[in-house]
Amino acid sequence: MTPRHFLSTQDYSRAEIDALLAQAAEFKRSPQGQQMAGKSIALVFFNASMRTRTSFELGAFQLGGHAVVLSPGKDAWPIEFDLGTVMDGDTEEHIAEVARVLSRYVDLIGVRAFPKFVDWSVDRQDKVLAGFAKYATVPIINLETITHPCQELAHALALKEHLGDLSHKKYVLTWTYHPKPLNTAVANSALLIATKMGMDVTLLCPTPDYVLDERYMEFARQNAEENGGSLQVSHDIESAYRGAHVVYAKSWGAIPYFGRWDEEKAIRDANRHFIVDEAKMALTDNGLFSHCLPLRRNIKATDAVMDSPACIAIDEAENRLHVQKAVMASLIATASGARSGLGF
Ligand code: CP
Repeated sequence: MTPRHFLSTQDYSRAEIDALLAQAAEFKRSPQGQQMAGKSIALVFFNASMRTRTSFELGAFQLGGHAVVLSPGKDAWPIEFDLGTVMDGDTEEHIAEVARVLSRYVDLIGVRAFPKFVDWSVDRQDKVLAGFAKYATVPIINLETITHPCQELAHALALKEHLGDLSHKKYVLTWTYHPKPLNTAVANSALLIATKMGMDVTLLCPTPDYVLDERYMEFARQNAEENGGSLQVSHDIESAYRGAHVVYAKSWGAIPYFGRWDEEKAIRDANRHFIVDEAKMALTDNGLFSHCLPLRRNIKATDAVMDSPACIAIDEAENRLHVQKAVMASLIATASGARSGLGF
């Protein structure tokens, strides 16, 4: 039987997301448990991590379980490897064997693989994560690929802690400058979770070329319709910030320029004024600011914003620990045939 994975929050109903957040809040109040006693998780990081790795390792420990960290290029796939070929057998080891072997050892597998080899114009599939989900016989957790669902839960929990009911709160996801284009995972995810929570979401970006991938825009439109919120795109900084309850910042590349970053650079450089600063935050309704971290200070957001009481990025980062414990505990319970206690 195919296990239930945690690949995307789109695979989970609003009620299931709310149940995970409630369980996470309970773990925040009472951190120790035995939900993973005798169980283990393998964490496969194709890309570096500080927060995700630390919070998953500690989370498993606090639930009585054990985490094994694998770094392709060093542990799995010990030779020179290309993320683009681990699915087609053109490397020393195919993902099919890695997923199946790990499934014999551990109870959960987490995978981080930024899609830097994906050509967005012809092939937008999240192949590495999909490969693990195809071949593994234990649940797979997305540790950040084309989306970052664990970050979504941590973000939502932090917003609920500060704002209570999120329905119709004005949420601005703003593009910010960065010297190099970054992947869109967290930006896609911000749209998904904010619309799932019924917020009135504005995607603020310099030009139409920076609107996010249509797949995620469409998911967000569906979420808004199902959960009573809204989604709009704006290129006007002042009107987007005015009255906002939440400003979330992220850098990403313009999709039509994917792989042609030298051409995109002029547009990016011309939009450094998208930085989140005190003047823009003063337009909000005592708005909160957050970011998934890491963040380049005074490039994406000023010191003044980062060090202000409005900034809840550290709360969000802390919540990674609590929400991931809820995800691991529910997947372990579901896979072992027990009800998770979360209604699924
Ligand atoms: N936000 C986040 O996932 O951080 P890391 O890259 O440090 O894991």
